[in-house]
Amino acid sequence: MSQQQTCSTSMKEKLFNLAVSNVISNAINIGNRLNLFKTLADISSEKGPVLPEQLAEAAGCKERYIREWCNCMACGQIIEVNEEEKFWIAAENVQELSNSSFEAVMNGMMATLLEPLDELIDCFRKDGPLGLEYAQFTKFQYFMGTMSQALHEKHVVADMLPDIGNGVVEKLEAGGVRVLDVGCGGGFHSSLLAEQYPKSHFVGLDIGEDAIRQAKQRKTKSGAAFNNLEFIECDAGKMPEIWTDSFDLVLIFDACHDQRRPDLCVQEIHRVLKPSGMFAMVEVLGSSNVYTDKAAMGPLAAMMYGCSMFHCLPVGSNCPDALCYGAMWGQKRATDLLKKCGFPDVKVIDTPYFPINVMYCAQKN
Ligand SMILES: C[S@@+](CC[C@H](N)C(=O)[O-])C[C@H]1O[C@@H](n2cnc3c(N)ncnc32)[C@H](O)[C@@H]1O
Repeated sequence: MSQQQTCSTSMKEKLFNLAVSNVISNAINIGNRLNLFKTLADISSEKGPVLPEQLAEAAGCKERYIREWCNCMACGQIIEVNEEEKFWIAAENVQELSNSSFEAVMNGMMATLLEPLDELIDCFRKDGPLGLEYAQFTKFQYFMGTMSQALHEKHVVADMLPDIGNGVVEKLEAGGVRVLDVGCGGGFHSSLLAEQYPKSHFVGLDIGEDAIRQAKQRKTKSGAAFNNLEFIECDAGKMPEIWTDSFDLVLIFDACHDQRRPDLCVQEIHRVLKPSGMFAMVEVLGSSNVYTDKAAMGPLAAMMYGCSMFHCLPVGSNCPDALCYGAMWGQKRATDLLKKCGFPDVKVIDTPYFPINVMYCAQKN
């Protein structure tokens, strides 16, 4: 067999395997949305496998649909099946399949991002639209909130804030500190911090009406209303005039690269920070060179360039003067932007506890 034939056979296999993985991944998403893995884990084991009707009963679903889902999951080697067509989750997989880890949540990504697929394809065409609106992804804020929680919940307070340095944690604890969360989405990070530091005040800002509506519904863990947290619908490139020199700390979580004019946003952050105030931007990992990214990040690079193509790039390109960065803008472009927009000394801090991120920190002179 010629080398060319070998290559084309292996590409054929690769394409088939990718198509299979895509189907299984979307079926996992259905399982997550309906809590099927956790329910199956609760009612079954290798010694006590269950019929689809038992899972259906326990999950409050229709037997016929559950049977098809179980069959797909078993043939896809996600759950186990025996000759009597009874199912269970292998003991070593229970934990991974029934928690809301980043890996589990990411299987819901494509269902969220493909909603405006035809419109995205039109964006590629020379005579097509410049980009897409956030509102065309109706489930994005829900998905992003779930992903941020899976990625960040355990580490924002324990690891990330101490890494900013400059006594930020002590100041937040002492109180009287004003913090701005730019591009706050559904308010996951702002509310986490507001609960942790009740003596400091938090403001979440987002351009999305939907995002701010969801954020305003946030409550403390005990169900009470926050009295140190507010949300405002506003373009980060045009913040309120009265905010000049008013924040001690400005944070961004994965929300700079997908703005149309991140330069205006960073200039505004510089304006609203108090002198000596700190700016910390958590952004997607990347080097600003795809060759380096491929070598350093492997499949994660493919995933993040893909997320960018399906969502971050089109939403960040939808006006004639957009900078069109995309999620993988990377360290060089990010530090250049921060330097150009008022922060000459940028520290790049590795955040191994956030597996897709890196943090840029700078102080206002
Ligand atoms: C990828 S999401 C991140 C949301 C949140 N920070 C998180 O990590 O869960 C980016 C957010 O930036 C917001 N955004 C985009 N452009 C903006 C702008 N010009 N001003 C304010 N927010 C913007 C979007 O509406 C979206 O909620």
